[in-house]
Amino acid sequence: MTQTDTYVPGLEGVIAAQTRLSRVDGLRGELVIGGFPLEEVAAQATFEEMVYLLWHDALPTAGQLEAFRDQLAELRTLPAATLALLREAATSQTDPMDALHMGASTLNLGVTDQAGNRRLALRAIAAFPTIVAAYWQLRNGQTPIQPNAELGHAANYLYMLFGEEPQPARVRGLETYLNTVVDHGLNASTFAARVIIATRSDMISAMVGGVGALKGPLHGGAPGPALDMVFAIGSPDKAEPYIRQKLDRGERLMGFGHRIYKVRDPRADVLSAAAEQFYQAAGDMGLYELARHVEKIAVDLLAEYKPGRNLQTNVEFYTALLLHGLGFPTQIFTPTFAIARVGGWTAHCFEQDRLIRPNSVYIGAEGRTWQPLDQRINTAHNLHTP
Ligand code: COA
Repeated sequence: MTQTDTYVPGLEGVIAAQTRLSRVDGLRGELVIGGFPLEEVAAQATFEEMVYLLWHDALPTAGQLEAFRDQLAELRTLPAATLALLREAATSQTDPMDALHMGASTLNLGVTDQAGNRRLALRAIAAFPTIVAAYWQLRNGQTPIQPNAELGHAANYLYMLFGEEPQPARVRGLETYLNTVVDHGLNASTFAARVIIATRSDMISAMVGGVGALKGPLHGGAPGPALDMVFAIGSPDKAEPYIRQKLDRGERLMGFGHRIYKVRDPRADVLSAAAEQFYQAAGDMGLYELARHVEKIAVDLLAEYKPGRNLQTNVEFYTALLLHGLGFPTQIFTPTFAIARVGGWTAHCFEQDRLIRPNSVYIGAEGRTWQPLDQRINTAHNLHTP
């Protein structure tokens, strides 16, 4: 066993896994998924092909793809108890990411030990869209729409959300998004899922942990606020004063900066191209052009306010624009991210074969002596809660 006393806050730069799933090069701005450059695969594959690629390290043949699609389609329907829980959550307007978290944790209901993690992984991938769409319907006072086994994964999600069979261009737009964010090295939620599965816990528990980590605004929770910022700016002339004020107050700009990328996130390019096509086809480029302008001002001002930090546009900025163009409400941007990333989490869990247990450096007191309750004076520090 190797041991080091060097404390690395946030594990920055620490290599804690080997993976054949994706390679992230933060200096060149490159992302390779399952051996393919992102730009090559994202706009061509179906989501089922992408997950198959991650699981099997090869693209499926037509027969393999059909079998995989069927297995997933068969597992889309939710247990009655899951729907009852979502109904309950909707009455108190629970955050959709919390509803997904609760719904996901019910996917172990009635599961026996023999089910195995492969089956549970299929179940999670298949059921996440149904949970999100059913919850969204319930929250809007509607009855959940039953999944349609004739439709592919992405098309069925759109169908359950919007109640009509989607046009191929919308399916393609969503599929490009899902593929673009399906996997991304050892990001925080993937790490959380790996930590859980490495204890030999079950696949659903690992997926629930992934959802919890993804929810935070420093990870998957950024696209909603990123779009809110573009809307709040409203017109190009307001971009600079608005962003300056935010930075003067010490606030972070959502959709910018990345732990690994020090150049523009390659996923932003793929998603901005997909979004541009979409807005063009819809005949209204206003929001897209405003967003491009906001992006430029934000990157320039980040360079001025945080010199040397190389804060560039990340995936979330154009996620927001594309999903908005597809008709998604901001509240379900992050759950939709989870619907994609669950594919990557499952594949990482299959790779993880060793307990993850780093060390910590103790910086607390030593050698205290016990004092009876009536002799204590208050010397407690305030708890720091992040
Ligand atoms: N806006 C303004 N300042 C930012 C910033 C942003 N989006 N991202 C980083 N910074 C600043 C920090 O305030 C810090 O400044 P300081 O050294 O003067 O204190 C410096 O840049 C380094 O930030 P740090 O938090 O150490 O970087 P990190 O590697 O931990 O952060 C993120 C990575 C993604 C968490 C961070 O860039 C961020 O919060 N971005 C906004 C949220 C977001 O878009 N998340 C989605 C990621 S895909």
